[in-house]
Formats: sequence, structure tokens, C-alpha cells
Amino acid sequence: MSTAWQGPPEPVDQPADDQPADDRPTDDRPTDVPAPVLELRGVTVRFGSVPALFRVSLALRRGEVTCVLGENGSGKSTLVAVLSGMEQPAEGELLVDGRPVRLRSPRQARAQGIATVWQDLAIAPLMSVWRNFFLGAEPTRGLWPFRRLDVGRAEEITTRAMARVGVTGLDADQAASALQAGERQSLAIARALHFGARVLVIDEPTAPMTVAQRALVLQSVLAARDSGLAVLFVTHSPQYAHLVGDRFLLLGGGRVAGDLTREDVDVHDLTRLVAGGDELSRLTDSLRERHQRR
Ligand SMILES: Nc1ncnc2c1ncn2[C@@H]1O[C@H](COP(=O)(O)OP(=O)(O)O)[C@@H](O)[C@H]1O
Ligand SMILES: [Mg+2]
Repeated sequence: MSTAWQGPPEPVDQPADDQPADDRPTDDRPTDVPAPVLELRGVTVRFGSVPALFRVSLALRRGEVTCVLGENGSGKSTLVAVLSGMEQPAEGELLVDGRPVRLRSPRQARAQGIATVWQDLAIAPLMSVWRNFFLGAEPTRGLWPFRRLDVGRAEEITTRAMARVGVTGLDADQAASALQAGERQSLAIARALHFGARVLVIDEPTAPMTVAQRALVLQSVLAARDSGLAVLFVTHSPQYAHLVGDRFLLLGGGRVAGDLTREDVDVHDLTRLVAGGDELSRLTDSLRERHQRR
């Protein structure tokens, strides 16, 4: 597996097993529960009078895939916009590594290590795959003003980065228009990995995709997870969500109608919940109760 992001080092001042740890701060987390890389607390976004998101809280952790599910208009894309610096919440907090931050632009979100794969998958179709991969950050040879673009190296890096997310046998010099929908998503995910993102936010395209292309996207999501990224994956499909998700955030009318883990639901529960509409909150509560009684 990749070693791109190693995470924080192990604490070195652990008390020995046989010593009481009562002089340690009480908010010390156990080492197997990493602090969220990105957290929303009580975020509300309004377009006019009706909130598109209402008091939404969520935590994204490294090496974890959080799937966001909900009907059209439930606030999924608005959530993506908040995490990507496109929309500023009217209320609530956004924290990176536990520190409150404001993301006033997509640039500021990227600077915090948050990479977004947009629903419309903007690519420059006439440019090569490698040009799209680097988008202005191409490797160069020599020193300015004698710097020259290193095309061979750019192709090689692109091909390797794509193989890392599961797209093999790619001609990086072909026009990006030749890429299918899933491959375009994989390209964006490969970019995020290569350029050192820590959080990957994916808004699944509404355009239909073949099973093979969807599988490619899921593979890329898992590659990102295994590299230690915190992944938020917006999808319409409970089946696909359950294949890759560690957590499931269900949105209904801009509110969190359910925040569940793999242990809480199987794929049938999840399908039922997403299709449930009015019953969503009630079912979520009863599932959680059942889980907590265990
Ligand atoms: N830019 C906007 N201006 C006004 N209303 C918006 C805007 N973006 C989204 N909305 C509204 O906010 C709600 C949530 O939309 P959205 O986040 O796109 O939902 P989803 O992605 O789940 O389909 C919808 O009622 C939508 O009409
Ligand atoms: Mg949407």
C-alpha cells in the first residue's frame, strides 16, 4: 500500500501499562480513535428563507469513507460546496485538525488539503490526459528562464498516478475527451492523491455510468482511503455506498436524518432508509437503538 500520508506520530509519553494514567488530561483520546481531519459542527446554509442545510454536523477521519445519501434537493451538493469553500455557512463551525477555520474560496479549501471532485467533472477535453492531470503544475527541466516542460516525465507521472487508483494501460498523451465518466473521476482522484490532499470530497455525477465505470470510481475511492485520506463520497446508490462506506450520513430536507456506521446497517437497511422518505428518521432512530442495546 502507499505511504503518501503517514499521519501523526505515535505519542511517546504513554504511561507504562501498570501505571495509573490519572495525571493525564481527561480529554486525551485513545490512540486508536484518530481526531477528525475535518469536522462540521451545526452548519446551516440558507438560500432565501428555507435552509439548504440545517445544523449539520459530521466528522471525517483519515482512512475512512463517509458516504452521503439523500434524495434530490436534500442538500448533498450544498454540503460539498461548504467543504470546498464555495459556500460560506450562515451558522456553525468548520474545523481542520480540531482548529476552527473559514474557507472563503476553493483556493483556501485546497490550501487546507481539501480536494473536490465536482459533479460536472470539468476537464479540458481537447487537452491531453497529462495536461489535465497537471493543469498548470507541470514538471519542468532546468532553471527559469531556461525552463522547459518535461513532457516525458509528466506522462510518466500521470500514468503512474492513474495506475495507483486502478486505471491501467492508459495513454496519457491522448485527448482527455477519450476518457469515460468513471475514468474522469479517477483522474481527479489521482490528482488529489498525487498533490497531497488529505481530504477528498466527491460529488457523484448525475449522468448514468456503466457498471465497469462505477467500479473504477469505487476502486479509486478505496485507493484514496488506503492512502490515508479522509473521503466524503456523495452517491445516489445505497448499494455502491455500502461497498465502500465506513459511515453513512443520510440527509433529508437539509438535516442529518441518520449518521450510521457499517455496524449499524446492512445494505438492505441502507436501501430501505434511503428510499424511506418520511420514515427515514424513525427507522434511523430504531436502528441506532437496536445497535446501542447490543
Ligand atoms: N445556489 C442556490 N440558490 C438557491 N437555492 C439553492 C442553491 N443551491 C441549492 N439550492 C437549494 O438548496 C436545496 C439543496 O440543494 P442541493 O444541495 O443541490 O441538493 P442535492 O445535491 O441533494 O440534490 C434545494 O432545495 C435547492 O433547490
Ligand atoms: Mg447534488
